[in-house]
Amino acid sequence: MNHKIPLRAAAVAMTLAACTSTSRAPEPAYPEKDRAAEAQRLLSGPGWYRHAIFYEVYVRSLQDSGGDGIGDLPGLTSRLDDLKALGVDALWLMPIMPSPFADSGYDVSDYLGVNPDYGTLADLDALLAAAHARGMRVMLDLVLNHTSDRHPWFLESRQDRTNPRADWYVWSDTPSSPTIPCGPIPGFGNGAWTFDATRGQYYFHRFGAAQPDLNYWNPDVGAAMLDVARFWLDRGVDGFRCDVVGLLHESPAGCDMIPETQAYIRRLRTELDGYPDRAMVAEPAGFGSTAPFFGGGSDMFQMAFDFDFLFPWPGWIAAGSARPLADHFAALQQALPPGAQSAIQLSNHDFARNFERTGGVSFRWRRAAVIQATMPGTPFLYYGEELDLRPGTQVVVDDRDRARTPMPWSDGPGLGFTTGTPWIAFGADAARTTVATERADPGSAHAFLKGLLALRRGREAFGAGSLRILEVDDPSILLFLRESADESYVVAVGMDETATRSGVAAAARLPGDAQTLLGTASLVREGDAARVTVPPSGFGIFRVR
Ligand code: GLC
Repeated sequence: MNHKIPLRAAAVAMTLAACTSTSRAPEPAYPEKDRAAEAQRLLSGPGWYRHAIFYEVYVRSLQDSGGDGIGDLPGLTSRLDDLKALGVDALWLMPIMPSPFADSGYDVSDYLGVNPDYGTLADLDALLAAAHARGMRVMLDLVLNHTSDRHPWFLESRQDRTNPRADWYVWSDTPSSPTIPCGPIPGFGNGAWTFDATRGQYYFHRFGAAQPDLNYWNPDVGAAMLDVARFWLDRGVDGFRCDVVGLLHESPAGCDMIPETQAYIRRLRTELDGYPDRAMVAEPAGFGSTAPFFGGGSDMFQMAFDFDFLFPWPGWIAAGSARPLADHFAALQQALPPGAQSAIQLSNHDFARNFERTGGVSFRWRRAAVIQATMPGTPFLYYGEELDLRPGTQVVVDDRDRARTPMPWSDGPGLGFTTGTPWIAFGADAARTTVATERADPGSAHAFLKGLLALRRGREAFGAGSLRILEVDDPSILLFLRESADESYVVAVGMDETATRSGVAAAARLPGDAQTLLGTASLVREGDAARVTVPPSGFGIFRVR
């Protein structure tokens, strides 16, 4: 298959092939709904987050408005229409609070303000108003586990052992504690304890030494953070992405999602539920089931990131077999309580760019995006994914900066991102992969993703429908059925990158014949069975009811 075939041209070619084919019956055309009205319905009300497309923004790198080379909130506001045109419904902003920037904002020194590099509280209010006017939502990153070592709470705590905030952090006479069997998070140094000469004790930190852990065994700490959450909810933010939220409490019983941490999350949820239509997504601290983040399904998080997909997908997609993908999503459905919604990412600010993880093979990312858009869960895009952005080489804060380079919007110096000098160099090939160029090219990553997101829009089955994996006798083909009350869809994704593959799902029991919506695969119902044929690296999305 030629992956540069423009989508629309491919669709035309498919239609022509269907018209001229003598052996195949014409495809059905199911009655179409008003998808815009459906999208409006699905995106209103408490279940909105199941149907939204989220977009993670590094404000520093999205759009500069002031010419200082640093992206900011007014810049982001000026790009809302571009994001909406792509199909984005909700933003997650990486931390925007004041920060000494030891960890790109994940070291907060004031929980109730805006980093002056990014603007002011008034700029945030303007962003919220502009987003809401467009039917878009905005989530903030909430860093509950630790503060900056320059936060006034820590500056006070370190003074001596008797000050009012003496036990707001975790202190010990030795670089260890019998009650804290927890080491540093990989990649954040060799030890979890750092000596503070002023206080004459060691403080505990799972991340960098500039990110001391708060002591959640002190109820005042938890209460202060609930105040922080209320402050932003009162301002109108639509919810939070909660940073490494499983790590709040440590005890001899463990370091991650111990019962006291779960209890705190329930309190946070109760606060959130005091406001209409808000949602939270949990960031797990590592691999493993996300079930603990959901509690009974309605008392903890609405969503949790599926790292068990985010980490391995590039290997799975390239390995030739559909088995790991089918097993993963089937097992996840089994494990999660009713009401739980997985948050599906292909990359984020902590990962190398998809381009790097797929060896620059764009159709691997494209097939993964099809899975992200159609498997149970909510897609979370990372800014620049729509351009298949290349990694950068410059490092300003740490090597994750390679995936945090400025967004190239258009031609000219500064590539539409800034009129000044960008805070970090653009990634490779940025001038050739701007939003403007990709928008003009129907075969581009941008056009592909836009088409895919448009297809998902207003179709309840993808955001909230059931999943049935359809077992195919060819192990290279992933085939599954998504169903809502009145519609059914089948998705086929091929794992063979060199040959056309064909297989039969003997027990598919499709409710109707296949109408092709997107892609070059074909699906033919044969009684209870279905025959699926997928060109190399191909896929297909079909309506079957
Ligand atoms: C989360 C963030 C990461 C940050 C860390 C510490 O994992 O995604 O960027 O460094 O927490 O806050």
